[in-house]
Amino acid sequence: MLHHDDATEEEEAVRVCVRIRPLVMRELQENQQIEWGYNDTCLLESTANGQKVYAYDAVFGPDANNERVYNVVAKPVVLKAVEGYNGTVFTYGQTGSGKTHSILGTDEDPGIIRLCVRDMFEYMAARPDVEYKVKVSYMEVYNEVTTRKPQELGCGDRAETSTD
Ligand SMILES: Nc1ncnc2c1ncn2[C@@H]1O[C@H](COP(=O)(O)OP(=O)(O)O)[C@@H](O)[C@H]1O
Ligand SMILES: [Mg+2]
Repeated sequence: MLHHDDATEEEEAVRVCVRIRPLVMRELQENQQIEWGYNDTCLLESTANGQKVYAYDAVFGPDANNERVYNVVAKPVVLKAVEGYNGTVFTYGQTGSGKTHSILGTDEDPGIIRLCVRDMFEYMAARPDVEYKVKVSYMEVYNEVTTRKPQELGCGDRAETSTD
């Protein structure tokens, strides 16, 4: 019989979350507005024929920072990864929708990669009796061309790249 805790831990293998970025300067100057309604799990589209609701595992509004997105989207994957489970987090969306901002972020608002690395090293530091081997690779596919930029992780030449 499943304990309550086990049942709540049981999650879908694939989770889909949506992030609505704030309007950028150009859009503000053009007086554009965010057309979608949303709450923590749904997007609301107003159409000529009424409203349509789309449900997701999580929806983040323009006020959410990378830390918040990371905590909900990627941290559970990191915690599973250090237990030995494979996991992937990827961003998908049209150019300008905020993928790079979410993944790399800025010094003031570090993105998912940096926060993943921070938590992984924190986890390992708390277990000095265990030997961990960490291999880092990072790639970006842009217009169907694959680019590899481990140095953008802030790992410098200590990053080991993988071509597999
Ligand atoms: N959550 C956010 N908060 C503030 N600015 C953002 C956010 N997401 C994206 N931006 C800004 O919007 C623009 C496009 O985002 P970007 O991450 O480059 O998109 P993509 O990688 O999907 O093409 C950039 O100027 C970026 O700084
Ligand atoms: Mg980008």
